[in-house]
Amino acid sequence: MATPPFDDRDGFIWYDGQLVPWRDAKLHVLTHGLHYASGVFEGERAYGGHIFRLREHTNRLINSGRLLGFEIPWTAEQIDRACLDTLAASGLADAYVRPIAWRGSEMLAVSAQRTKIHLAIAVWQWPAYFENRMAGIALGWAEWRRPDPATSPTASKATGNYMIGTLSKHKAEAEGFADAMMLSWRGDLAEATGANVFLAIDGALHTPTPDCFLDGITRRTVMALARRRQIQVVERIIKPEELRRTQEVFLAGTAAEVTPVRQIGELHFTPGRLTETLLHDYEALVRMTPSDVESRLAA
Ligand SMILES: Cc1ncc(COP(=O)(O)O)c(C=O)c1O
Repeated sequence: MATPPFDDRDGFIWYDGQLVPWRDAKLHVLTHGLHYASGVFEGERAYGGHIFRLREHTNRLINSGRLLGFEIPWTAEQIDRACLDTLAASGLADAYVRPIAWRGSEMLAVSAQRTKIHLAIAVWQWPAYFENRMAGIALGWAEWRRPDPATSPTASKATGNYMIGTLSKHKAEAEGFADAMMLSWRGDLAEATGANVFLAIDGALHTPTPDCFLDGITRRTVMALARRRQIQVVERIIKPEELRRTQEVFLAGTAAEVTPVRQIGELHFTPGRLTETLLHDYEALVRMTPSDVESRLAA
């Protein structure tokens, strides 16, 4: 069955403090966020009615706005509450949650100090980010690179940072791949278009230092899970050539969850013990209550 377009669905969207009917959650075409990419967002997943690591996501949303020079006019407590209210209004227990904040239409030029900052939250079903995730996905190489942090606010989950992701993903899909592996501006391994990457090399877990791309909440969660299992975790600059001595690769992200990778370009991998262990640990963790999640990760 075709999925309905996003502007024509039943339900409610939280919009600047109120739940409004889904189809009425509109904005003007002369919105700063649309013209100048002054928008930041989050991608969260709810499992069994709990939003996994909600406060981490809310804090990143607030910080993403600050990195673009604006303050979201709601506290972290209010944003958490709004996410949970929107989830409750959706009637869904397992769902994807998308808060987005943007500059409005009071000014429309590069300068935007007097724009109102808006916040909206939508919830929908998004069962799996990749088809046949468990079998392992194939990635092509992206032509675009993650930019130097001196040229873009790369630590912000800002809408503008996704242009090169869309271009890279379109090329990969046209070539028959599920997603694209992106290099950093320096030519080191970076991440996929919407998830971080991990490599298993001789029993240890290696992941690129997130100095020009998003330091994912799933990434940090997986690192903590690995350490709990006494698996050595190494965060460092990784050269793409090192994939030739890598046994396993997987992606980690809120939407992608833990996704085994069986191919990057011409290289093939077989998902093995490390991927399976962390995939299962992650799946068990997301089903725990929020306080059990935090105490498990702190332990
Ligand atoms: C570009 C990019 N990198 C990494 C991630 C993973 O981040 P997180 O685990 O916080 O969802 C995401 C997803 O939000 C993303 O869009």
